[in-house]
Amino acid sequence: MRKKIVAGNWKMNKQMEEGLKLTFAIKETNKNFPEELEVVLAPPFIHLYAMEELLKNQPNFFLGAQNCHEEESGAYTGEVSAAMLASVGVDYVIIGHSERRHYFNETDTHVANKLQQAIANDLNPILCVGEHLAIRNDKKHFEYVQQQIENTLFSFTADLMQDLVIAYEPVWAIGTGHNATPEQAQEMHQHIRQILQDQYSKSFANNLTILYGGSCKPSNAPDLFQQPDIDGGLIGGASLSADDFSAIIQSF
Ligand code: PGA
Repeated sequence: MRKKIVAGNWKMNKQMEEGLKLTFAIKETNKNFPEELEVVLAPPFIHLYAMEELLKNQPNFFLGAQNCHEEESGAYTGEVSAAMLASVGVDYVIIGHSERRHYFNETDTHVANKLQQAIANDLNPILCVGEHLAIRNDKKHFEYVQQQIENTLFSFTADLMQDLVIAYEPVWAIGTGHNATPEQAQEMHQHIRQILQDQYSKSFANNLTILYGGSCKPSNAPDLFQQPDIDGGLIGGASLSADDFSAIIQSF
């Protein structure tokens, strides 16, 4: 089902106490918002269990992880599986974030395997795609994102991907303060929806939730979220402040 989602990716920020305070503040500030809007908080792994307690019985709030391992279990020192995430009440998992691809050498093959794990464990995947600046300057961004989607999704049937969310995050916009304009984001989101329509069906594409990410903040969220194919945001820096994140939530 197509939803409206504002997801906060805390990355490697916030000690436990700070994270709990932030969660509490976001929860208190956002009591009355539309039923169809979901707020996802994706803290570091170590906070998940404690945050689950805080978010219990909060119908609009969901817990997200920032990554999972591509295997079910085994001798992978330091890693966390999708099944473990599910066992502590995680609902969403971000997969293929550009920082994972860049710093941890994740390829589309790893991303596809992680999607498989998320699906097998009933987690809602948030698949990140997006081009680097050089690719956009070469006017190859539509092809590039199409390739990322083909490589990571096309081995799955539509019925396995009912809970899929895609986040379009142009790498040049992440953490730079330079967001894509609403027009640039809209045309890419429309392109992504078209790719899914061509491969699966019109209803699959229409039901898909597509988020924008990359320097999304209170000042630009209203214009971005007004675009017909933008269903919300994946927020990094601005999700670390309760005031900014709440203002983004209230942009809908
Ligand atoms: P940003 O990060 O909002 O700080 O640009 C977005 C993201 O990486 O998901």
